[in-house]
Order: sequence, then C-alpha cells, then structure tokens
Amino acid sequence: MQTENATSNDTDLLIIGSGAAGLTLALRSADKARVTVLSKGDLREGATFYAQGGIAAVLDETDSIESHVEDTLTAGVGLCHREVVEHTVAHSAEAVRWLVAQGVPFTTRAGTQSSKSSSSPTANDLSSLHLTQEGGHSHRRIIHATDATGKAVFEALQQQAAKHPNIRLLESCTAVDLITQSPPDSTTKRCVGVYVLNQESGRVETIRARFVALATGGASKAYLYTTNPDGASGDGIAMAWRAGCRVANMEFNQFHPTCLYHPHAKSFLITEALRGEGATLELPDGTRFMPQFDKREELAPRDVVARAIDHEMKRLGCDCVFLNISHKDPTFIKDHFPTIYERCLSFGIDITTDRIPVVPAAHYTCGGVMVNTRGETDIENLYAIGETCFSGLHGANRMASNSLLECFVIAFGAAQSIIEKIDRTPLVEQLAEWDESQVTDSDDEVLVSHDWDEIRRFMWDFVGIVRTTKRLQRAESRIRLLREEIRDYYIRHKVSNDNLELRNLALVAELIITSALQRKESRGLHFTLDYPEMNDEAVDTILAPPR
Ligand code: FAD
Ligand code: SIN
Repeated sequence: MQTENATSNDTDLLIIGSGAAGLTLALRSADKARVTVLSKGDLREGATFYAQGGIAAVLDETDSIESHVEDTLTAGVGLCHREVVEHTVAHSAEAVRWLVAQGVPFTTRAGTQSSKSSSSPTANDLSSLHLTQEGGHSHRRIIHATDATGKAVFEALQQQAAKHPNIRLLESCTAVDLITQSPPDSTTKRCVGVYVLNQESGRVETIRARFVALATGGASKAYLYTTNPDGASGDGIAMAWRAGCRVANMEFNQFHPTCLYHPHAKSFLITEALRGEGATLELPDGTRFMPQFDKREELAPRDVVARAIDHEMKRLGCDCVFLNISHKDPTFIKDHFPTIYERCLSFGIDITTDRIPVVPAAHYTCGGVMVNTRGETDIENLYAIGETCFSGLHGANRMASNSLLECFVIAFGAAQSIIEKIDRTPLVEQLAEWDESQVTDSDDEVLVSHDWDEIRRFMWDFVGIVRTTKRLQRAESRIRLLREEIRDYYIRHKVSNDNLELRNLALVAELIITSALQRKESRGLHFTLDYPEMNDEAVDTILAPPR
C-alpha cells in the first residue's frame, strides 16, 4: 500500500478524509490533478468502513426515480431541497456503475458477492444485484455487500487510490485549520492551504493547495452513545465555521434505532436491513409495539422508530428493547448478515434463535457545511463533501442508505468543478508557517478527557431524542463555559490530536444547541416537548459565523 507518514508541502487538491467521499473525489480528479488525501488515523477509521446496510439506488424496473425522490422527501419532513434530491437520485445508477467498475463486490441475487461470482454484474448491466429494503423506502432499492457494505466500498476504492500515480495517501495527519486569503479589492475569501499536525513528528506543517476538500465525516461523537468511530468529532464543520462558512440544520442529528445493547459491545450497529428482511421490534415481554406508532411499522423512518423505542423504554423503565429475526431461516440469516451473526455470537447472542437487545444511538449528522451539488462552499476553492456537508438532500431526517449515495454524487460534482477550474487556479506563492513560539507541551491531559466526557454526557441527556427548551438552555450555558476553558487551554499548549478533537467537538456541540434552540417546532429528528407541533412553513436553520 502506498501510504506515507510525512507530508511534503504542495499539492493541487488536498482532501481531508479518506472515507467514501474523500476517496471518490480523489479517484475522480486524479487524472487531472495531483491529489493528497489525509486521514487523522488509519485510512479506514471513518464511518464508511463500518457502513452495513448499503447504498440506495434506482436499479429495479419496477422502481422509479420519482418514487425514490418522493420517499426521500417524505422522510425529510418538508425540509429536503427537491432539486438536490432529484439530482442525487438521478445519479444513483451512475454511482453504482462506477463502484462496480472500481471492483466493489456487491451481493448478487444469487446470494454471492459479485467479484467472486460467474454471474458478476458489469457496469452496464446491474440487473444481477440483490436489492434489500430499509426504513422509509417503498421499494427494494438498497444494493449491498452482505452486511458489510462500507468495508467492501472502502477496500475497493482504497486499492484503486493506492495504485494511482497521482494520489498520495497520508495517515496520522490531522488537519488543524484551513488557511484562507482575501484577494485585494475582494470581499470573497479563498482557501489556499491547510495546517496539518503530523502526529509522528508532532510538528504542524503547512500544506499549500489549489483546492481543499473537507471529507471529514460527521459529528455524532458529540453524543455519549453513538454508532460512530472515535474520530467523528465534526472537525470539517468546525474548521469551515472558523474559516467563515455557513452551516445549516445542525439540530438534526439522527439517532439510529438499533445499536447493540451489551456492556462489552462498543458502538455496534444492528443494520436496518434486518427489519427490511422481516425482523420485528419487541418489548421485553415479547409484544410488538411499532404497529401502534406508525402504519409503516418497523419500516417507518428512523426518527419515528427511535422515538417510539425511547418512549417505550421510558414508559416501562427498561434498559433496551429487542429485535427479533429468529423466525427466518438460519441459513438466510447467516448468508445475509454474517458480520452481525458473528459479532452477536461473540457476546453469546445467537441471532438465529435469540432476540437482540437494542437501544437507539447517535448515528448521523444531517446538517453541516452549506454546499451546492458540486460541493462548493462559501469560500472559493474550498469544497465539502460527504457527511460533513449540508447539500439539502436529507432534510429533517435522512432516509436509510442515502448517505453513501450522497458521498458519491456530491464528490462527482466536486471533481467536475475542480477539473474545470484547475488551469486558472494557481498555488499561492508563500504561506506563513505555524507559530509555536508561545505554547508549551500539553501538561494536564485529564482536563481534555474530562471535558470530552462532560460534553458527550450532557449532549445525550439534554440535546437527545426528546428535547425541552430548559434542557437546551442548560446545555447552552454548560457549553459556553466549557468552550472558554477549552480556548484558554488551546492557546497555551501545543496541539495534539486529542485537544484538536475536543476543540472541534465543543464548537460543533454549540452549533447543534444553538440550532436546536432556534427551531421552535417539532419536525423530523428535532422533537421538543415545548413545541410539539410542526410549523406550516419548513425553514432551514442557517447559522453564519461572526465576521
Ligand atoms: P467518513 O467515512 O466518516 O470518513 C471521515 C474521514 O475523515 C476519515 O478518514 C477520518 O480520519 C478523516 N478525518 C476527520 N477529521 C480529520 C482531520 N481533522 N484531519 C484529517 N483527517 C480527518 N450510510 C449509508 O448510506 N448506508 C449504510 O449502510 C450506512 N451504514 C452505517 C453504519 C454505521 C455503523 C455508521 C457509523 C454509519 C453508516 N452510514 C451508512 C453512514 C455513512 O457510513 C457515512 O455517512 C459515510 O460513510 C460518511 O462518509 P465520509 O466519507 O463523509 O466520512
Ligand atoms: C444501517 O445499515 O442500518 C445503516 C444504514 C444507514 O445509516 O443508512
């Protein structure tokens, strides 16, 4: 694998993040640009690698673009931007064709993974792909690689990227902040580079780039219980905000209804595709409860299912509810859900016979850095793609498996934009080096870990599935105080991955709280007891950084 641990300083396109969005943009741009891709940890340590259910796409002849669009708009409860939904869905088959061409081994109708099968799909004929179902979708339209779609996508894209002569993949490099300039006589800013902490040397290096793309994933780590890997601290959203970009709809943090509830299972998701294949949600006594909450039952959109679970857990005072697929054929279960079968078995739960204890957990950041369908932000030459961005696709609640789709489609648009502009976008001549003359080594790491824990705890308790104005105000006063302390610590000490993540997480938590306080209604993922009704008009919550 062609990975390096040192940064050299110039590149045409610097992509911060090596998940589905970042690797797609790299591969789509690399024939025309020298590309550097950064990951703050191991290349695989984003949400992409852990994605289970699949990718939503219109491939079946009984399905239609209109139907996928309508389902997305319904799940988004009036806040999706219709033109963005239409654009994204219209490109879904193209995205799948491209992924097949990159070698992603999707599961076929014959039940095999495509690269191992004699009846492999080709980029021109996708009819042999198996389609599963998830919440909010009125058709089977989810392509997948058993229950480990993200791993299959990541591995194929990473292998292609590692082979490309114009792509450098750098691990253990944490972007600290964007470098922007305002050309004389202009009010617009442009992005010209990034300060990057090389974790091996401990030095902050300056990387000049003609274009920078934020592909840093989401911010669900702001919550105590989450399906996300540790790095989901909202770094891209925080960097973009500090640089001057607007963010939108940060109050819509999605809670996935079914995360495994077990003392030793950290953040393990139980895919919605189980419910798509007939699994039922049950109370401890075995009663099904979803039919009382929604006519779509277990396949209602996530906000509805997560709220129903939360309601039942509070009503009965129980620690979890149960997901039951044991009525299905054991071979079917093991073939379709091998990862979940094995993982649950390692905790003593045989899903072919036992019910799975589950609880909701923070899963996805629907808001983010405002972009158009080409990933272009408020700052010239700065792009945001994937979960970091707010394109308008998801509205008040993302529909299952539309996230990976957005990663590919917006990255395609960003690549096109960059390729069009590259010949007229020079590197800037010189950039200031990072100044460490006034700081000392970090001397009290317990402050960082304490603040990290405190934020995640009160975000869970006060800014969770059911909110009130009083709880949000309490969270607001806590976060303001903490941000002061964190700022003070940050300016006195050398940067480390931990204190950078804490600084970003605290900022993003404040953006979530501020947005939640501004929305005086209940809609989709934002439910508050003080404003339980939905307003007639659906309006995005747009926050702009102080100038
Ligand atoms: P990520 O894949 O999260 O990658 C982020 C990258 O940014 C990482 O490489 C990280 O190291 C890097 N990074 C972050 N900050 C910095 C920094 N400061 N400096 C340098 N690098 C940085 N969606 C679906 O559509 N279908 C699914 O089946 C599905 N299943 C899911 C299952 C789980 C368990 C989870 C957690 C999510 C799932 N999602 C699913 C959501 C989807 O996986 C994510 O939204 C998507 O993968 C995000 O991709 P991304 O490229 O934007 O970011
Ligand atoms: C899942 O597999 O349930 C997650 C799908 C998603 O987040 O879109």
